[in-house]
Amino acid sequence: MSSANIYETPRLLEEYLLFHYANGQEIFPENGPLCPAGMREAMGFCQRTVGHFSREPACRGLDLGCAVGASTFAMAQHCEQVIGIDFSQSFIDAALALQQGKTLPYRRHEEAHVFTELTAAVGDRSIRDRCSYEQGDAMKLRDDLGIFDRVHAANLLCRLPRPLALLERLPDLVRVGGELVIATPCTWLEEFTPPDQWPEVDTISWLKHHLLTSFDLTWQGHEPFLIRETARKFQWSSALVTVWRRL
Ligand SMILES: C[S@@+](CC[C@H](N)C(=O)[O-])C[C@H]1O[C@@H](n2cnc3c(N)ncnc32)[C@H](O)[C@@H]1O
Repeated sequence: MSSANIYETPRLLEEYLLFHYANGQEIFPENGPLCPAGMREAMGFCQRTVGHFSREPACRGLDLGCAVGASTFAMAQHCEQVIGIDFSQSFIDAALALQQGKTLPYRRHEEAHVFTELTAAVGDRSIRDRCSYEQGDAMKLRDDLGIFDRVHAANLLCRLPRPLALLERLPDLVRVGGELVIATPCTWLEEFTPPDQWPEVDTISWLKHHLLTSFDLTWQGHEPFLIRETARKFQWSSALVTVWRRL
């Protein structure tokens, strides 16, 4: 699938390791350019979207489009067993290495040929032991995946060629009373999704149209996120976040 190929590139792998695992000092080094406060508030996106699930302990969680895996680890704070699935084999390989307790070296791009060496690691073994990762297609998930207390899909829908295929599978993935968190920046682009598969109207109306027969919408709001490309170029975006409870 050509639309997912950019997520197999070393550049995107490094950007996502930084996005998911770098601390404030690594994103905004002291000698770097002045950054508006709003940029700092956009850090920790993986933890903030997962923070929209209730805090009670749960058994099974599913993180679709998990990339290099930080939101899967975050779900494991309150979930006994979490599966992270992503289409990108290189993202899944990185998540698996971290899950096995390895320290992953990667580079932060400054400009031109200038890079800074960094590392990612997940220290908490009890969290790592609750997580597993696998390569898979969110539009064609394996039949024996089972049913989940919590399903998370952050910034995935508008990267799928057929997002409806996922929306139609969701009622079977979430147990009655279970929770679903969907985040999307609604950046519908022809390179990922053919225009005839985009929402006919706005994304929130489209989500309601397809999900309200099986879910209650319990919350909707916004979460900003920041992806650092170089020392002087950042993508600041705002995701629409919706929280649903399975009827
Ligand atoms: C914009 S990124 C978001 C990643 C992560 N959830 C986050 O918020 O940082 C989109 C992710 O969806 C993955 N993806 C694209 N197509 C997919 C598919 N058909 N099935 C599963 N994952 C897919 C990409 O590999 C990438 O990791």
